[in-house]
Amino acid sequence: MSVYTASTTAPVNIATLKYWGKRDKTLNLPTNSSISVTLSQKDLRTLTSAACSETFKEDRLWLNGKEESLSSERTRACLGDLKKLRSELEAADASLPKLSTYGLHIVSENNFPTAAGLASSAAGFAALVVAIAKLYKLPQDMSELSKIARKGSGSACRSLFGGYVAWEMGDQTDGEDSKAVEVAPLGHWPGMKAAILVVSDDKKDTPSTSGMQLTVATSDLFQHRIKDLVPKRFVEMKESILNKDFPTFAELTMKDSNSFHAVCLDSYPPIFYLNDTSKKIIKLIHKLNELEGEVIAAYTFDAGPNAVVYYEEKNESKVLGFLYKVFHQVEGWKKQEVPSTLNFEFDDQLYKGVSKVILTEIGPGPQETEESLVNELGLPK
Ligand code: DP6
Repeated sequence: MSVYTASTTAPVNIATLKYWGKRDKTLNLPTNSSISVTLSQKDLRTLTSAACSETFKEDRLWLNGKEESLSSERTRACLGDLKKLRSELEAADASLPKLSTYGLHIVSENNFPTAAGLASSAAGFAALVVAIAKLYKLPQDMSELSKIARKGSGSACRSLFGGYVAWEMGDQTDGEDSKAVEVAPLGHWPGMKAAILVVSDDKKDTPSTSGMQLTVATSDLFQHRIKDLVPKRFVEMKESILNKDFPTFAELTMKDSNSFHAVCLDSYPPIFYLNDTSKKIIKLIHKLNELEGEVIAAYTFDAGPNAVVYYEEKNESKVLGFLYKVFHQVEGWKKQEVPSTLNFEFDDQLYKGVSKVILTEIGPGPQETEESLVNELGLPK
């Protein structure tokens, strides 16, 4: 019995121009284009192994050590597309084993706790699609594969590339032009760093899928966002990346995060993802930029209270020294930073709202790996 296997890792990405709103919810077609920075897999990544064999009767999935049902339509849509591409290869070359007819075993693990509330679905779907594409030896490039990952979770399409990535919304109804593309590779502007402040939260607000549906259906401000704001920002942000113009990139990033949370508040009933800790972090970053006399740090928040602070390596001691002064009691610092000598007032209890800091940086796209999560029988190790 032959068991075929392939493994890959895939990164997390954090949008600087947010995807919020679908024009087609089955195909995950967005109402606007978006931009993200891919984060290093040293700190945050999903490792996925895919196996198939003539003896596997059905498709099965194990996530972080636990078997999960494969009933989700989104996962089925990804598997269906990948099997179809494989069957086209098999139809063109009769000597190929008929992997498209075999059951698939997929085993996936994150190197960070899912409980941290960090978007793991993007890395998860990206890794799933790339692992199976490798197993099936598909010739499609990353942009083509991103269209499949998109059906799993919209933001996942951007995790197929490293560096600076755009998801072009496209305008076709079949979604064939709604795909991720590279804006600039990692090496173009390698000094981009990210400090993630994991903000403790007792309960989750609306999941992003239903949250964006509500916004599309009820927010008037949203129309202004997708028609006027984002198309202009999309061009300007790409330009700021190509010019390595941090102040412009940072200002657009912060404004777009605020605009996204504004349309959440403008939804009816309103959606709140930022909590008091998040809001105080926003104020702090503005204070830092004001005291420095230039924009050296940018915050952004997704569908939850965690802050991601982008900054350039050359300003690392300034940004981390500033954050260290406020959050030094929190775990996750890589070394003892020199606390900022800047004089500013802050809530000395604020650190209690943050459970962890994750210091990371920009990183590459999915990576081939020798590491495998399946044994010779194609079952989790
Ligand atoms: C706020 O990609 O998780 O993080 O397509 O419904 O799976 P689905 O949504 P998802 O939404 C991400 C929203 C966001 C912004 C972004 O990543 O661009």
